Amino acid sequence: MNSGGTLVAGPARQGLQGRVTVSGDKSMSHRSIMLAALAEGVTEIQGFLAGEDNLSTASMFQSMGVTIEFLNPQKTSLRVHGVGLHGLREPERVLDAGNAGTAARLISGILAAQDFHSVLVGDASLHRRPMMRIVAPLRAMGAHIDGRDGGNYLPLAIRGSSLQGMRHEMHVASAQVKSCILLAGLYANGETRVREPRPTRDHTERMLPLFGQAVQRDGDDIVLQPCGHLTAPQDVVHIPADPSSAAFFAVAASLVSGSSVQLTAVGTNPRRDGWRRILQAMQADITLSPAADVGSETVADMRVTASRLQGITVDPADVPDAIDEFPVLFVAAALADGEFILQGAEELRVKESDRIACMVNALRAAGADIEERPDGVRIRGKERLKGGVTVDAQGDHRIAMAMAIAAQCAEQPITITHAAAIATSFPAFVPLAQAVGMNVAMPEAAP
Ligand code: S3P
Repeated sequence: MNSGGTLVAGPARQGLQGRVTVSGDKSMSHRSIMLAALAEGVTEIQGFLAGEDNLSTASMFQSMGVTIEFLNPQKTSLRVHGVGLHGLREPERVLDAGNAGTAARLISGILAAQDFHSVLVGDASLHRRPMMRIVAPLRAMGAHIDGRDGGNYLPLAIRGSSLQGMRHEMHVASAQVKSCILLAGLYANGETRVREPRPTRDHTERMLPLFGQAVQRDGDDIVLQPCGHLTAPQDVVHIPADPSSAAFFAVAASLVSGSSVQLTAVGTNPRRDGWRRILQAMQADITLSPAADVGSETVADMRVTASRLQGITVDPADVPDAIDEFPVLFVAAALADGEFILQGAEELRVKESDRIACMVNALRAAGADIEERPDGVRIRGKERLKGGVTVDAQGDHRIAMAMAIAAQCAEQPITITHAAAIATSFPAFVPLAQAVGMNVAMPEAAP
């Protein structure tokens, strides 16, 4: 990941208008490559997100002998020549997950079961993120993993071994941990069961059956009885537009007066659209027109029209369903009437940055009334932000984009440094934002 890059944003000159199809879903793009690589046969994927994170996943599998053909210059269509569950090759070099927590945590479950040795690294941010949450359960299944600080941090050295299925009760609500264990479970002797403290995104459970591997529920347990192989689906695997990327446009259209923006074919998996429910509870004007399902996922077109937002207290039970959208929801809250309170969201401190501290610093510098709490924030909304400042996105894509949205409602522009990371999840953010009338530019990116 390029850690530089400066965005200059806002204020919006007029209401935002138009129709946007945001890029493909990042979580599903990772999973589609992984399952396709481990399947027997060729899988075609469309709607793939060619962000840096997903390309890291692709290149890790390429370096283990998987052929991936990109079918168009945008790299949104691809063909993965699966090698089967046992066909990966020992990588000659370290595997680099870049900035991608999902890539690192999910691939560890696969690497733990291979007949070879591998070393997993990432960028500076990924090297600060906790890994014991996957290392401990994988070790309990029989994995041999070493790493910094006893295995809590990358680099991880993984010596593949034979794994034993088990029942794991998770302490954190994390789809990455759940998915890592389920992927390891594909190789385990006997069944693997996972129980989550709260439901998290379920793309792995929805996608595995497309590849012929059933995943069942038994009460609150998610159960995988390994069938011994994955099979490339006959149908193309379609990936819907990423709700996490759509959220930036929905908040911007809600806040900038005179706006009306249509977001097409956005994923509406209930484990992903907590941001929409929270925004609607804040009185956002969002109309949904459900469209035909995309593979195993639901989608809808959304029209978002500007409205005066109200602060709310977020129910901690809703936190996992909106975990990636809190930076931009804080922006909505900073410009809403009344008070917004979030608690039970300490996981935000171990994302690509400490998203509580980072957003508190950036929004406060821009003129917001925001108080930092150990597990969340309290925000008292204002009519406008002052802006006229430089804030540091700390190499975190969602902080950079959230502050670009905040700037649309500021009196003066906001300069956002260390913003190049938007390319990890949403390389098309700036042109799409400009297309609906947002005032945002990345001057350094100009030729
Ligand atoms: C993801 C799960 C979430 C989320 C991340 C993507 C996934 O992380 O924050 O951006 O694709 O499984 P946790 O599961 O660790 O909360």
